[in-house]
Amino acid sequence: MIQEKVIETYRKIFGEQPQFLVRAPGRANLIGEHTDYHDGFVMPLAVDRAVWLAIAPRSDNHISVHTLDFGNEMISFGLDQLQDSSLPHWTKHVRGAWWLVAHQEGKQAPGVNIVIGSDIPMGSGMSSSAAIEVAMIEAALALLGETSSYTQAQKALLAVEIEHQFMGMPCGILDQMASAAALEGTAMLLDCRSFDRTPAPIPDSVRVVVMNTMKSRELGDSGYATRRRESESAAQLLGVKALRDATMDMIDAKRTELGDVRYRRAKHVVTENERTLQMKAILESHDLQGAGKLLNASHISLRDDYEVSVYELDVMSEIAQSHPACYGARMMGGGFGGCAVGLVNADAIDDFLNALQPRYTEKTGKHPEFYVCVPAAGSGVTRL
Ligand code: GLA
Repeated sequence: MIQEKVIETYRKIFGEQPQFLVRAPGRANLIGEHTDYHDGFVMPLAVDRAVWLAIAPRSDNHISVHTLDFGNEMISFGLDQLQDSSLPHWTKHVRGAWWLVAHQEGKQAPGVNIVIGSDIPMGSGMSSSAAIEVAMIEAALALLGETSSYTQAQKALLAVEIEHQFMGMPCGILDQMASAAALEGTAMLLDCRSFDRTPAPIPDSVRVVVMNTMKSRELGDSGYATRRRESESAAQLLGVKALRDATMDMIDAKRTELGDVRYRRAKHVVTENERTLQMKAILESHDLQGAGKLLNASHISLRDDYEVSVYELDVMSEIAQSHPACYGARMMGGGFGGCAVGLVNADAIDDFLNALQPRYTEKTGKHPEFYVCVPAAGSGVTRL
């Protein structure tokens, strides 16, 4: 178990007991893609894979962090070096958390010893980065004795700021909110404007299956930023605060002024919000065929209107959709690589995975990985 390894490594390296164990999970997103930064609706669940931290305060002003990933590297730096860009990239998550808690919240978290371990596949689109950010915010607040003075949503919003201010990625709130505030045993409908969360229970007879294409998301960040600009410019032209407030009638009325690209970007967001709201009602009525149709329609919209899919995601989604045990499937997350997600008959999971693997490899030359999701709770801290 990764958490035991993290604790054991902490004892070995620092020669003392850690004081807290922090857990922040990765996420899947059933539907509601590229809608979060338009104040829209998303339907994530946390997966049973997580980032784990063993931590204890230090009496000096240093942060010593040891990661079980990145070749077991260990780095130490002072609290006055939080913005020192000569430090390795992976330290940005820690530095960002300590910096934000100090500068945005006015609270100086102490020096700390940290061991990090994770079993979320990195760069796969299951939000390993968001999970580290949420874990670091939980860590800084735990050391300050402020764990319960912040709501999980407030912690998520601080974690989003690490991404914006330290990683340079203009993401929305989906990943960090899922990691910090997911509901155990269920997906949730999250309103990205009000932060309201309501359970969207997955019927027992199906599983949410995440399918990793093993195509890395190299161009993902720049493609993401471009899509965000294009669609925000559409919102501006439509005269709405965010595309959440637009309707198909409004977009159709301004089709010429919007031009083809902005028209399609806005159309995706409006229709995806509708699909996400419908999904909740459809899951509640156990209409799995209906749920599958929404997933398939979401894929077409992401592929043709938002243009964030790639060959591997199309192939994976199409093969999955064509299997009799699969109700529907689509690309998941930011796109340009990473994972697809599908709803699959729980009694035929092995059949489904065995059939998918060779067909996907034959078409792409890549060896996919699959995760059958067990919806986990959001992040938390345990005193050891
Ligand atoms: C990435 C971002 C999220 C969200 C998704 C697309 O995962 O980090 O904020 O925008 O893409 O739905």
